[in-house]
Amino acid sequence: MARKRVAVLISGRGSNMVALIEAAKDAGYPAEIVLVVSNEPAAVGLKRAVAAGIQTAVVDHRPFGKDREAFERALQRELAAHGIEIVCLAGFMRLLTPWFVRQWEGRLLNIHPALLPAFKGLDTHARALAAGVKEHGATVHFVVPEMDSGPVIAQGAAPVRAGDSAATLAARVLEIEHRLYPRALRLVAEGRVRIVDGRCLIDGRPAVTNS
Ligand code: GRF
Repeated sequence: MARKRVAVLISGRGSNMVALIEAAKDAGYPAEIVLVVSNEPAAVGLKRAVAAGIQTAVVDHRPFGKDREAFERALQRELAAHGIEIVCLAGFMRLLTPWFVRQWEGRLLNIHPALLPAFKGLDTHARALAAGVKEHGATVHFVVPEMDSGPVIAQGAAPVRAGDSAATLAARVLEIEHRLYPRALRLVAEGRVRIVDGRCLIDGRPAVTNS
């Protein structure tokens, strides 16, 4: 089966992007990372992508001001020019409009550093500590217009330990993210994920949480 052509969208350091690139180095992996796009010209992740020999593009959102769709049309042109089939958001800090999300329905993935539906939005680690939860983690899900929602493809849990700071907890969760995202992308690229009534079935069964 032909490997799926994947673009990774970033805004920052790109450690999840690197995890995807590393996984895709294996010829048996069902997806190849053919493009990395950043909305931030200064994103450190861009340098890491170049070092890995991946093509990069910058679509700066600033010149488009409040016109989100115009920004997304520029993004869409890059994706189309590279024949992209699946898009992975990896620390991409722009909200996407329903217009863009619809183009990529079932082919647009995001990773969020929490066990959704808990702790949508930013500063998840500090909020998890403040809430006193015993378990935190990460979620890969399909993107829908509502932020940090959408069918869950895979989740990975991490224990919250006594004495954790937001930084130590984030580091523990990040390790999980780096394992989880390649696993989730593999499932999608292999066509093993079906959305039924707003939920993902993997090989016909509900997804389970791993650590
Ligand atoms: C990750 O924690 C990811 O879950 C969140 O933003 C962070 C991005 O980190 N969406 P990196 O750029 O992949 O290193």
